[in-house]
Amino acid sequence: MFISFIFFVFVLGVGNVIPGGPSGHNPNNIFLLAGQSNMAGRGGVYNDTKTSLLKWDGKVPPQCTLTPNILTLSLNKTWDIARDPLHKEIDNLKTCGVGPGMPFSNEMLARRPDLGVIGLVPCAIGGTKIEKWQKGTTLYNQLVDRARAARESGGNIRALLWYQGESDCGEQDSMLYKGRLEKFFNDVRQDLNSPDLPIILVVISAGEGNFLRNVRDAQLSINLKNVVHVDAMGLTLLPDRLHLDTKSAVNIGQKLADSFLNNFYH
Ligand SMILES: *[C@@H]1O[C@H](CO)[C@@H](O)[C@H](O)[C@H]1NC(C)=O
Ligand SMILES: *[C@@H]1O[C@H](CO)[C@@H](O)[C@H](O)[C@H]1NC(C)=O
Repeated sequence: MFISFIFFVFVLGVGNVIPGGPSGHNPNNIFLLAGQSNMAGRGGVYNDTKTSLLKWDGKVPPQCTLTPNILTLSLNKTWDIARDPLHKEIDNLKTCGVGPGMPFSNEMLARRPDLGVIGLVPCAIGGTKIEKWQKGTTLYNQLVDRARAARESGGNIRALLWYQGESDCGEQDSMLYKGRLEKFFNDVRQDLNSPDLPIILVVISAGEGNFLRNVRDAQLSINLKNVVHVDAMGLTLLPDRLHLDTKSAVNIGQKLADSFLNNFYH
């Protein structure tokens, strides 16, 4: 009894993915979602005047509809049916809402039903500078660990979708941004044994600080193989002028799908 308990803790507790998602099959196409709040999703988040707390309005647009063909890797590394707020478990200290993950997946399946089952690996955390994602940090380790766990169930990691930089718009951080981002991309690819891993990089349209322009320039000047850009400029924001509203989260999610299909799916 005790021995089998130890066995259970050892075998399952180390974080192996339990085979067989809820739809009976595991995702063949895995996508890593990482970065900060706009990847985690803040669409529909508002100030509740009564409690002075941020709340989510609970409105899920049709482009974010759940289906058995879109799964998400839970915190305990099982595949569950994905639904908004997709980052609720992982970005658990913040109020999460609608983000790009669900509209990305629905758009992919609408255009290429032959894709089968999509597995999302939510890893984004609100308010995190690129410094917090350098190799060896908690967030870096969590991303690599969850990516490896996701792959254990048999699928392939098709791309990293990266949306971050709003917290790096100060003078000093913006100057160091390009080097740090390139190092992060190179390290992730190396640690996942995937030197050509497709990366879709969202070029930010808002930031905390006066050096948004520098961060955008740094992002646009990244010139690594299989790194492509999707620009968030022009998308509508919440009253905080930092976070995408629901409509814009849908829009950027669809743009990410468009970019993936055009650049990496042949
Ligand atoms: C993992 O978490 C999900 C919900 O997030 C739950 O349904 C499932 O039972 C959990 N699995 C294990 C093995 O703890
Ligand atoms: C909530 O209210 C605070 C204080 O007025 C403001 O700074 C913030 O931008 C608001 N957030 C949203 C999402 O409306």
